[in-house]
Amino acid sequence: MEQAPATPPIHALELEQTSIYCSPLAFIDKRGNPILIKPLSEKWHEQLKRMYLNYEPRDDFAGLPPIRDDECVKWVEGMVRNGVNLVALSFEEGIIGHAAIFPMPNQTCEMLIVLTRGHQNTGIGTQMTHLIIQLAYELEFERVWLSVGAGNRIARHVYAKCGFEYIAHCDDNELEMTVDLKRYYQMKGITVKDVMNRRVVSIHENSSCREAIGIFVRKRIGALPVLDDVGEVVGILSETDLVVIGNYNQKVKDVSTKQVITVRPHCPLSKVVRLFQSKKMRCIPVLDRQGKLAGIVGRRDILAYYCRTDLETDGLASGNGAGLEEHRVDPSGNAGDLP
Ligand SMILES: CC(C)(COP(=O)(O)OP(=O)(O)OC[C@H]1O[C@@H](n2cnc3c(N)ncnc32)[C@H](O)[C@@H]1OP(=O)(O)O)[C@@H](O)C(=O)NCCC(=O)NCCS
Repeated sequence: MEQAPATPPIHALELEQTSIYCSPLAFIDKRGNPILIKPLSEKWHEQLKRMYLNYEPRDDFAGLPPIRDDECVKWVEGMVRNGVNLVALSFEEGIIGHAAIFPMPNQTCEMLIVLTRGHQNTGIGTQMTHLIIQLAYELEFERVWLSVGAGNRIARHVYAKCGFEYIAHCDDNELEMTVDLKRYYQMKGITVKDVMNRRVVSIHENSSCREAIGIFVRKRIGALPVLDDVGEVVGILSETDLVVIGNYNQKVKDVSTKQVITVRPHCPLSKVVRLFQSKKMRCIPVLDRQGKLAGIVGRRDILAYYCRTDLETDGLASGNGAGLEEHRVDPSGNAGDLP
């Protein structure tokens, strides 16, 4: 891992003012064990070395931890000296995880995270990654950077879930990822309900595909939630489902996709953006607490929201937002334009 020289040190005072230094995080992992995440203090230095000396196998990720014991100890000492270090502690075993950031040029820091084998995949890495991002933001870095093995699926999943995006391949086996902290915190407060279109066009499962085609053509929409008799979402119908000529005389329920991904109104918008990126979806139905259709969110709703808030910040918009349509809840759930 690259630890850039000649970067400004982080002052103790700045560190002491960050949230994780003021209040360590206690939580229960996926196996029901209490875990504490806190800054590394001097009394844990030896245990951190032991964690890495006992880590199996050495040379697990990009040549780390170093295979030789003396190099491994030197490497840990370097991280303690140059980085801002957090540790995850379990009551029985002490240090079971370590995450750190290292200043690099251009307001960037590099991130490293390692959990001992027995504690991987229990939710601790996700918590530590969120905390590291928060810490980097509070220390006024502009981005967090890391490189991850292409085959390290758990790490890639955790990083993407926490807001990292891919930027480039270092080589065939390594991928670079980064979080733009300004954009991340702008997005963080936005939820689906801020953005969703409440005027949803839907279709009954027993309607004909011919009827659905008419709606697609008239409304210029890309996907329709499919409802059953009690108004539950039982499928999603896209234009692609209808381009097969043999489907023209079928019922909607025969050709629509049954496995529907839905979100709740309070879901962070960043999760929706990730779903759009990873699942190649056009729009996602939004369900209320009762499981009923409350709205829909499509790419164009997100763009319209960005545009609206941008105009508002620039003081250019008034009322409806410079010609942008304001969506209203339609209790019937059956009118208006989809994205
Ligand atoms: C990478 C690492 C830090 C992640 O921490 P962790 O505590 O194991 O991760 P979590 O338990 O918080 O989350 C694991 C996620 O991966 C998912 N996952 C598990 N196996 C997976 C697989 N084969 N493919 C994709 N995702 C997978 C889990 O479902 C979980 O996601 P979810 O919470 O959304 O369901 C940890 O596994 C680790 O230390 N690995 C070895 C060292 C390392 O590779 N460090 C990174 C160097 S770049």
